[in-house]
Amino acid sequence: MKVIAKISEIRATIEEQKSSGKSVGFVPTMGFLHHGHLSLVKESLIQSDCSVVSIFINPAQFGPQEDFQKYPRDMGRDSALLDELGVDFLFVPDKNEMYPEGFRTYVEVTGLQDDFEGRSRPGHFRGVCTVVLKLLEIVKPDVAFFGQKDAQQAAVIKRMVRDLNLDLDIQVLPIIREKDGLALSSRNIYLTPEQRKAATCLIKSLREAGRLIENGERDPGIIRNRMERVFDSEPLADLDYIAIVDLDNFQPLATIGSETLIAIAAKIGTTRLIDNMIYRSKE
Ligand code: PAJ
Repeated sequence: MKVIAKISEIRATIEEQKSSGKSVGFVPTMGFLHHGHLSLVKESLIQSDCSVVSIFINPAQFGPQEDFQKYPRDMGRDSALLDELGVDFLFVPDKNEMYPEGFRTYVEVTGLQDDFEGRSRPGHFRGVCTVVLKLLEIVKPDVAFFGQKDAQQAAVIKRMVRDLNLDLDIQVLPIIREKDGLALSSRNIYLTPEQRKAATCLIKSLREAGRLIENGERDPGIIRNRMERVFDSEPLADLDYIAIVDLDNFQPLATIGSETLIAIAAKIGTTRLIDNMIYRSKE
């Protein structure tokens, strides 16, 4: 695996691959890789002739009170994992080259970015969209892979790609979880053993919602109420929001629809976790 930091070098390298007829798959990440990230990488390796992974902790998507400084990093381990899987190129851009002095241009997906994660993390999706557009423009992949774990991010990116006529395919792959159901996240490392146990209340509440829907419940108010009760019984967890929305446009639903997303965010101590579940009706 070749590790490349310079934008001009990754551009030239990929151009070379494309001109020899190879398809390019791309997985953008912020590193500290776990099996969730690696599931995306494996899919890229299956589908593409040449796979590129980026690791860039994007300052533009962190709020001033957030964990940019202490976001976990382990470049040695990450690059060994990717090398072992057979990734062709690891792109590790430099902050000053990505955001040079005088940087002024940002991308926003209005409406879709405002609620839920957007409300709790003002400016977050503007930072995500800006860096993802830049990375897509630099790498120019045929297909880019994202995780359903960050459901609103996936919806916002798909919309940006559609609205700006970007010529690539976006694939969103399922959430990878621990045995007890906790969604893998680089931030899980912040949890103490006691908090780690408490963190299962996210998946417990989603499973409770799933059971209700399976049994015919269609009222989001009732579902929300039962999910909140799961959090009431977990003193270490502080619920931020429960979103019961349409999967594509993130609009709240008056009744459970044919493609419903239930997304939650909660703080366990100072660690903010998110999770979600998609309900698709069988008919
Ligand atoms: P990061 O949190 O490192 O995640 C990189 C990709 O891995 C995202 O598409 C995310 O949804 C996916 N992912 C994370 N946990 C997962 C899990 N448990 N199962 C499946 N996929 C999972 O998301 C970002 O970085 C950044 O916002 C980025 C898109 C790189 C822009 O900076």
